[in-house]
Amino acid sequence: MANNPAHAILGTGSYAPERVVTNNDLSKQVDTSDEWIFTRTGIRERRIAGPAETTSFMAAEASRRALADAGVTPAQIDLVIVATMTPDMPMPATACLVQHLLGVPATAPCFDLNAACSGFLYALDTAWAMLASGRYKHALVIGAEKLSSVLDWTDRTTCVLFGDGAGAVVLGPARGTAGILGSKLYAEGAHADMLCIAGGGSRHPAVTATTAEADAPKRAITMRGREIFKLAVRQMEDAAREILDLHGLPAGAVDCVVPHQANLRIIDAIAQYLELPTDRFFVNLERYGNTSAASIPLALDEARRAGRIQPGHTTLLVAFGAGLTYGSALVRW
Ligand code: UT7
Repeated sequence: MANNPAHAILGTGSYAPERVVTNNDLSKQVDTSDEWIFTRTGIRERRIAGPAETTSFMAAEASRRALADAGVTPAQIDLVIVATMTPDMPMPATACLVQHLLGVPATAPCFDLNAACSGFLYALDTAWAMLASGRYKHALVIGAEKLSSVLDWTDRTTCVLFGDGAGAVVLGPARGTAGILGSKLYAEGAHADMLCIAGGGSRHPAVTATTAEADAPKRAITMRGREIFKLAVRQMEDAAREILDLHGLPAGAVDCVVPHQANLRIIDAIAQYLELPTDRFFVNLERYGNTSAASIPLALDEARRAGRIQPGHTTLLVAFGAGLTYGSALVRW
């Protein structure tokens, strides 16, 4: 912690679709209730994107806000990474569509990255390393998801959990002591089938001579929820502890933890294991549900706007998701 960091988050922004879908709304569609969803997850409502609110649109809106917050123009951006598992199209990359919407120059590489719910931390680490190479100066790092497009709306075990949205940060040269202090990423591919969208890739192609509506569930998220729950707690705790140890910081030195927003019980369990008060964690999942790669940047932006992150604060970001991937990052403001 002796040296000042070289790169910092210069600005944050987020976008949530206008349409709010409450637990009560969902209980008219599937056999569920507000009481079940809220007590098991902490979720009250989620945002569901309309047809015009594509992943690229939401990503670009969040980015515009992050750029304004940072005081950086699209012309200054020389790298765009979109973390998403719900790109507008399998190809081209959503990042290219965002580049065009924002007017980022052609000299900027633009690509998508899929690490599911850990996607934003993977993208942040990637952008940070690319900036550290000295070849790029300002990066847009975005997490954006239209998960409503990959849900089986007749499956109550998944459709009540997820929502749509986007968050973005501008990464650039650090000013003073604020900056990214560290990042640590992990993956355990042995558990890949626990949480997946089985169809639409080369194993179960979206387009075949026999593709029929009967295949539709393969194009939706399936999850072994209870097993994922246990692994999520262990992985997020491990990722949090390791980055704190690497930087010689006790958990108590963290001013605000911004965790992946999947389930309040998961967050409470991590708080307990790290022996931190739950109010040290920023939580907004009651209003958005699980927005996968968008969850951390959306929460980060709201935490800053709510005054929960102040200059000089140290923030711990921690995520887990399909892959299974997980990771953590330490950021000073
Ligand atoms: O970002 C990574 C994404 N994944 C996650 O974060 C998921 C982690 N897992 C979880 O959050 C929890 O496991 C869930 C919220 C998904 C489920 O909670 P749970 O306490 O583990 O419930 P369960 O799966 O053990 O199901 C308990 C009961 C079952 O009924 P029976 O078999 O006991 O009769 C389910 O069929 O609840 C039933 N159930 C529901 N009931 C009402 C499952 N979904 C619903 C529902 N409404 N929406």
